[in-house]
Amino acid sequence: MTFPEIKKLQNHFAGYLDKHPFLGEPESLYEAQNYILNLGGKRIRPIALLAALQAATGKYHDGLPAAWTFEIFHNFTLVHDDIMDKSPKRRGKPTVHKKYNVPSAILAGDNMLLGAYQHLACYDDTKFRALTNLLTKTGIYICEGQFLDMQFEDTTAVNETNYLKMIELKTAVLLGASLKAGAIIGEASKEDADNLYNLGINLGIGFQIMDDILDAFGTNVKVGKRKGGDIIANKKTLLLINAMVLANPEQREKLDYWLGLQHFDEEEKILAILDIFSELNIKKLAEKRMTAYYKEAQKCFDKLSFSSTSKAALKELIELIQTRSF
Ligand code: IPE
Ligand code: IPE
Ligand code: MG
Ligand code: MG
Ligand code: MG
Repeated sequence: MTFPEIKKLQNHFAGYLDKHPFLGEPESLYEAQNYILNLGGKRIRPIALLAALQAATGKYHDGLPAAWTFEIFHNFTLVHDDIMDKSPKRRGKPTVHKKYNVPSAILAGDNMLLGAYQHLACYDDTKFRALTNLLTKTGIYICEGQFLDMQFEDTTAVNETNYLKMIELKTAVLLGASLKAGAIIGEASKEDADNLYNLGINLGIGFQIMDDILDAFGTNVKVGKRKGGDIIANKKTLLLINAMVLANPEQREKLDYWLGLQHFDEEEKILAILDIFSELNIKKLAEKRMTAYYKEAQKCFDKLSFSSTSKAALKELIELIQTRSF
């Protein structure tokens, strides 16, 4: 599969990012910020913003500063997420708090968040206001989602509904907001803006389910994160939640044993839980849920009023995410 429209947006965004590195003193603070950005990443959110703007207006150039803002904001959440999740690896390299230290990572994240807002000042007052309102609301949702994600580590009383709300808050709203930001900059109708937002929510929920699947079943090289990190941390992923519901008494006992252990061999725990996942065919089930959200995303896409030519990049983006072809 080829994605020519996305390639084009990716290249333009990469050029813009290269021209706008973080500069300032103390040098090590800014170095940490540039470090995470230079590790790459799929750049889904800025591409989504540009693709939405292109759908609305046929052009995307005016969206580059906001695309930068959304990618920086996303990277800020990753730097803090890796501290919370005690993750040693991101994008195949040491995480910021591992390479530098925790205070540096907290401050690099904070400073990226502020820099992200500052960069929106190039828009006129009406758009600036709409974009900052959107980003603020989204940031609040992400804090709520991340809080739930952490809180869920310490309880087994999490069902699919709680989980879906949590991932909508921690992940999907930022994709929804990126698409909506494209609509704001392109002065699209409220209806199109709402459909773009809902498209992002559904795509984002599917995307996080896939992220959970890959954490358990992906390869280190492709995912760039430590495999089994969610299992080690007792994350209530869709996989674990369904395993707890479907487990027979013996499997349930094993799950409770590993979830309750304070000190354990990490590889042993990962293998034991993965065994139960495969006995219960949990991966298939999660993929089914994911596909249902991708179908909803497609429905939102079909409702958009834009021409099919201008929607080409957006169409590719949906396909790219669904097939994880990056
Ligand atoms: C990681 O996001 C965090 C989640 C919401 C799952 P991405 O998978 O988009 O991370 P990068 O930016 O491509 O590294
Ligand atoms: C991340 O969820 C969501 C945010 C960063 C807000 P995860 O914790 O699953 O993301 P990864 O797997 O570390 O990228
Ligand atoms: Mg997390
Ligand atoms: Mg994490
Ligand atoms: Mg994850």
